[in-house]
Amino acid sequence: MKILVLNGSPKGDSSVTMQYVKFIQKKIPSHDFDFINVAQNIVSIEKDEKFFNEIIEKVKESNIILWATPLYVCLVPSQYKRFIELIWERGADGAFSGKYGAVITTSIHFFDNSAHNYMRAICEDLNMNFAGSFSPDMYDIMNKDGRDKLIAFGKKIFYIAQNNMVTSKAFAKPVYEIKSYSFTLPVKKKDFGNKKVLVLTDREYKGDNLSAMIDRFISNVDGSVELISLSDIDIKGGCLGCCQCGFDYRCVYTGKDEFIDFYNNKLRSADIIIFAGEIKDRYLSAKWKQMFDRAFFNTHTPTLGGKQFGILLSGPFSFMANLREILLAYFQWQGANLIDIVSDEYDSETIDRLIDNLAQNLLWSAGEGYVEPPTFLGVGGRKIFRDDIWGRLRFVFQADHKYYEENGFYDFPQDDQKTIEINKKMIELTSNPEMRENVRKMIKTEMVKPMKHIVETK
Ligand SMILES: Cc1cc2nc3c(=O)[nH]c(=O)nc-3n(C[C@H](O)[C@H](O)[C@H](O)COP(=O)(O)O)c2cc1C
Repeated sequence: MKILVLNGSPKGDSSVTMQYVKFIQKKIPSHDFDFINVAQNIVSIEKDEKFFNEIIEKVKESNIILWATPLYVCLVPSQYKRFIELIWERGADGAFSGKYGAVITTSIHFFDNSAHNYMRAICEDLNMNFAGSFSPDMYDIMNKDGRDKLIAFGKKIFYIAQNNMVTSKAFAKPVYEIKSYSFTLPVKKKDFGNKKVLVLTDREYKGDNLSAMIDRFISNVDGSVELISLSDIDIKGGCLGCCQCGFDYRCVYTGKDEFIDFYNNKLRSADIIIFAGEIKDRYLSAKWKQMFDRAFFNTHTPTLGGKQFGILLSGPFSFMANLREILLAYFQWQGANLIDIVSDEYDSETIDRLIDNLAQNLLWSAGEGYVEPPTFLGVGGRKIFRDDIWGRLRFVFQADHKYYEENGFYDFPQDDQKTIEINKKMIELTSNPEMRENVRKMIKTEMVKPMKHIVETK
């Protein structure tokens, strides 16, 4: 069988993910593998249509397309995302139709599920047969169990393709009939006082729904609002994954383009921020993804804590539960407050009201300093970073380690002396069978006692 490996790592051959694929190739030598460093060469692929068409010819000749990519900010790197956009933009989606598609990523399991959902949905949108996905931790190949599982994954996808098996679909195709949005209700301006408001887009929007939505939001604000498009900022390229920023947040692009200045002086200085963009495939644009990836010069240190966010979207967002989760995860992990995500899927009057309410709620939350407590997305995400920065990633990400130490991020339960003592005492006590039976009956009432005390006394 012919396997075409589309490499999503900007590091090209020096990619961790590629070592996993090379290992499958070595251990299952009966198949033909071809590799293309898609993310590393995205600038040439985009500029040179011949290069792009050569890739598409290889897709046509292959039995299995193996999407092999690192996780970047809950998804794939922006360069890989751009390649996926080009497939549709250049009408090459037919080349993928009916092929088997499989996904392998490496990561530290921080929202690897979101990236896998995304890639599976892309396979399904391309009318491919999804043969399976594999999400090892980046170091799993170092142990035998990890290697055995990797080979089993390779065998499994080859078996599925060789036997021409039919595969299930996980994601409904978005249905989107764009309705034209225009102002319907009168706008009531709100006094934003000295709050700094920033509206950030990925490109200039003119004469379309998103531009009208942005106008609607801005016309709510009595105060200063800055509208910035990422396309007007000199950004030389996507994140290269070199991790040189880990020591001291110093990115290899420092002094070479405007992104870091923009991030530090514009984004971080705003109190209230609107992100606005259009849905492209199953996410926002690759330009937007580039911004999230390039923000990684702050590595695993949150930089947007306490800020109030709103999102304006054009496109079938109600079909994108995965995108909603990614956005919630991002802002929760940051310690920011995401008030609402408003899309243009409603009628004009409802959009007017949703945007007006968004402006009102942003203002209220900014005034109160309110940040909604995180759910599993934020809590779980921070614990993954906490453990890895404390442990195996500390040497490379020394700046994170310093921040985590200084800001109480190392909240390991083993450091909680009070809990350690209570556990010791209670475990000893309940080792006595009679006491255990007595305590068993008291758990319900004892558990709520401290909260009741707070309710009664505070
Ligand atoms: C910019 C950037 C963003 C990352 N984002 C994530 C992430 O969201 N989740 C995760 O588990 N790992 C994340 N990682 C870790 C990489 O996925 C991991 O190191 C991977 O093995 C790199 O593979 P590669 O060498 O093939 O590029 C990120 C790394 C970088 C450089």
